[in-house]
Amino acid sequence: MKYDIRNIKFAKEGKKRIEWAERDMPVLNLIKERFKKEKPLRGKRVSACLHVTAETANLVRTMKEGGAEVLLCASNPLSTQDDVAASLAKDYGINVFAIHGEDKKSYYNHLKAALDFKPNVTMDDGADLLHLLHTEYKEVAKNIIGSMEETTTGVIRLKALENEGRLNVPIIAVNDAKTKNMFDNRYGTGQSTLDGIIRATDMLIAGKNIVVVGYGWCGRGFATRARGMGAKVIVTEVDHIKALEAAMDGFSVMPMREAAKIGDLFCTLTGDIHVIRKEHFRKMRDGAVVCNSGHFDVEIDIKGLKKIAKSVRKNVRNNVDEYMIGGKKSPQPPFNKGGKRVYVLAEGRLINLAAAEGHPASVMDMSFSTQSLATEYVVKNYKKLKNKVYDVPENIENWIAKLKLKSMNINIDKLTPEQRRYLKSWELGT
Ligand code: NAI
Repeated sequence: MKYDIRNIKFAKEGKKRIEWAERDMPVLNLIKERFKKEKPLRGKRVSACLHVTAETANLVRTMKEGGAEVLLCASNPLSTQDDVAASLAKDYGINVFAIHGEDKKSYYNHLKAALDFKPNVTMDDGADLLHLLHTEYKEVAKNIIGSMEETTTGVIRLKALENEGRLNVPIIAVNDAKTKNMFDNRYGTGQSTLDGIIRATDMLIAGKNIVVVGYGWCGRGFATRARGMGAKVIVTEVDHIKALEAAMDGFSVMPMREAAKIGDLFCTLTGDIHVIRKEHFRKMRDGAVVCNSGHFDVEIDIKGLKKIAKSVRKNVRNNVDEYMIGGKKSPQPPFNKGGKRVYVLAEGRLINLAAAEGHPASVMDMSFSTQSLATEYVVKNYKKLKNKVYDVPENIENWIAKLKLKSMNINIDKLTPEQRRYLKSWELGT
């Protein structure tokens, strides 16, 4: 077993966290129990490149109980929980390569370790591992029977490879499963993004003008939660249907050039690049706060902001950098007389992971149950799979939703035989 982590002595705290998360992951626990008995992944090597958190720890434990040898590396340098990494190495026999705050070189060395492990199955959150598999590590692809992708940005990248005819392994788009994106992207990101913003800034949400950039799964979740806490929410979009939906849901919708003038807080959730740029920063109010909860740290053009800023004060509070725009430098606060301050949270990286703890375990229960069953599906069906991006099979989704409802003590109705016939017929009705 190999590992490269901050400190193995942190294991005790990490184990407590992993066990706490486990309590709130009832569907994954059921899968874990079955995997323990049936060992459906026996003999397989799994490399997972995911956020190294207590919830992910329970996913990789499930893989191991299923008979796989597992390696875990980080999909984001800022989201690693060092104590969890330590406990996985010490208490659960998982190979772990992840250190909170690691630099780019160490981050990529850890991704390379995951491919040197010669996996048969990979899991990605943003497709960084798969990117290496299509560039420096092409020869490793021949061992791989399937790869899971956890997030929207990763699916976009992999579909682009598929469209160019260059995809070299079969992909299961776990992100696109309803049991994933409805819970994780909408409810998980909605709540944990607000949590991250509040922990980073201690700001009162009520009464604030909050600009939500992108009204997809994540944006809808965040906008709804922010409104629930009393914010006046403004949505910016580039898609007419999503913009219409936001307007019908009762939010103000306008272009960023207008929203930039009135927002107190801006949060990007698009999976796109430079959705807040120099021309927008120039229009912002003094004290505006800007953050991102989309996958990569490219949504906010921080290089552009640096270019127009007179000065930057890093870490004025943990996870908060202050950029001064315009005005004259002065030795006293606000340090740039006549100018204005713009605050960037977590250097534009995922705010819910950098400043809070990511999604609650109950949300990750759905995503990671989907990951586990999709992996089992790949192991059983790889001979039939082509180098394409596949959806998660519908029966897996239904099974997970049913068990989640059961764990919440919620029962639902069943179709009567008459209803079944009616819904399948074309003769009845007029
Ligand atoms: P989505 O595809 O459902 O929504 C993205 C929306 O952004 C779309 O409606 C699109 O029209 C809009 N958009 C694109 N460019 C824009 C622009 N220039 N201005 C305004 N709107 C724009 O995607 P989803 O699932 O909501 O994911 C968004 C991002 O969040 C992705 O990068 C995804 O990987 C990431 N993500 C982050 C999570 C977290 O924990 N923070 C969890 C899950 C996903």
